[in-house]
Amino acid sequence: MFKAIYLTRDNDQFAARIAELGDDALDFATAGADVTVAVEYSTINYKDALALTDKSPIVRKWPMVAGIDAAGTVVASSHPLWKPGEKVVLTGWGVGESHWGGLAQKAKFKGDWLVAPPAPFGTKQAMAIGTAGFTAALCVSALERYGITRAHGDVLVTGATGGVGSIAIALLAARGYRVVASTGKLAEADYLKSLGAADVIDRAELSAPGKPLQKERWAAVVDSVGSHTLANACAQTRAEGAVAACGLAQGMDFPSTVAPFILRGVSLLGVNSVLVPRPRREAAWQLLAQSLDRAKLDAMTRVVPLAEAFDVARDLIAGKVRGRVVVDVNR
Ligand SMILES: NC(=O)c1ccc[n+]([C@@H]2O[C@H](COP(=O)([O-])OP(=O)(O)OC[C@H]3O[C@@H](n4cnc5c(N)ncnc54)[C@H](OP(=O)(O)O)[C@@H]3O)[C@@H](O)[C@H]2O)c1
Repeated sequence: MFKAIYLTRDNDQFAARIAELGDDALDFATAGADVTVAVEYSTINYKDALALTDKSPIVRKWPMVAGIDAAGTVVASSHPLWKPGEKVVLTGWGVGESHWGGLAQKAKFKGDWLVAPPAPFGTKQAMAIGTAGFTAALCVSALERYGITRAHGDVLVTGATGGVGSIAIALLAARGYRVVASTGKLAEADYLKSLGAADVIDRAELSAPGKPLQKERWAAVVDSVGSHTLANACAQTRAEGAVAACGLAQGMDFPSTVAPFILRGVSLLGVNSVLVPRPRREAAWQLLAQSLDRAKLDAMTRVVPLAEAFDVARDLIAGKVRGRVVVDVNR
């Protein structure tokens, strides 16, 4: 038996609770998965919060064990890459959406989905990073692959106190960029500066409808907010600059014009963390291992027991969470 956050929808009635499940239910629900993991830590990402509060149709199959991320120890494996006793990390691949997830003491995944936590990270720190931090690393990689360097100028990070935002700031600052953080929580300016932001601006400067082309301010942008914020960020990006778009905290719409793209040569780089092939996945984790300061990661992370995941999910949707929340599934 193992404990898990169990999501059900019966007769259109959604419910989320901690359930005690049998291993046979796990085997049945995850047929085709070849690695059994004793989960140590999971986390609450934005997508988990949407699933736990039923705010968006994240879950594709019912009943579902929630949790898009997990880290733990292999207890059984018929996959050639993994042996019992090895530490593994899972982010994405539709886990917690269409495949039983990581907010559980036990999980079964496909070995192809797993990576080893890159030194110096253990399982707890891997989940402090989680999908949010992995996505921040993919955004930074996308900008650098495009050709952005610190010599190009300021990099804007929106949704700055969130999970993606906090880790993006820490990563970019460690790589020598001058980072400007946009936040709705100006009282957290000291926190954002402690992560490496050189400047903090009020997100209200970006969140209302704006002109198609505005004063050129940013060499590059990491945007986890979408909607008018993304449109204004593009309109303020310098000629030949780039915007990595990964989120929709303000909205899924993109009320922009083509002006920044055709008159300034700005590039919009889309980032999806779910189905990243192994070589790029490992490269993003290597970037995190190289550039993410562990003390900063610890300072932005809070650890909660499984039962607290529901409150964290509600707070996250309300925009009240700062940084990252790790879930100790055995507490
Ligand atoms: N593409 C992918 O693969 C991928 C992966 C991970 C996450 N995401 C997306 O990225 C976004 C951020 O994820 P996260 O885990 O960082 O979530 P999070 O921790 O909740 O952070 C989101 C942040 O956005 C800001 N925000 C919230 N509501 C807003 C609003 N109405 N208008 C403007 N800003 C608002 C807040 O920061 P401030 O208070 O500092 O402004 C909040 O902390 C989500 O939309 C998520 O779905 C996408």
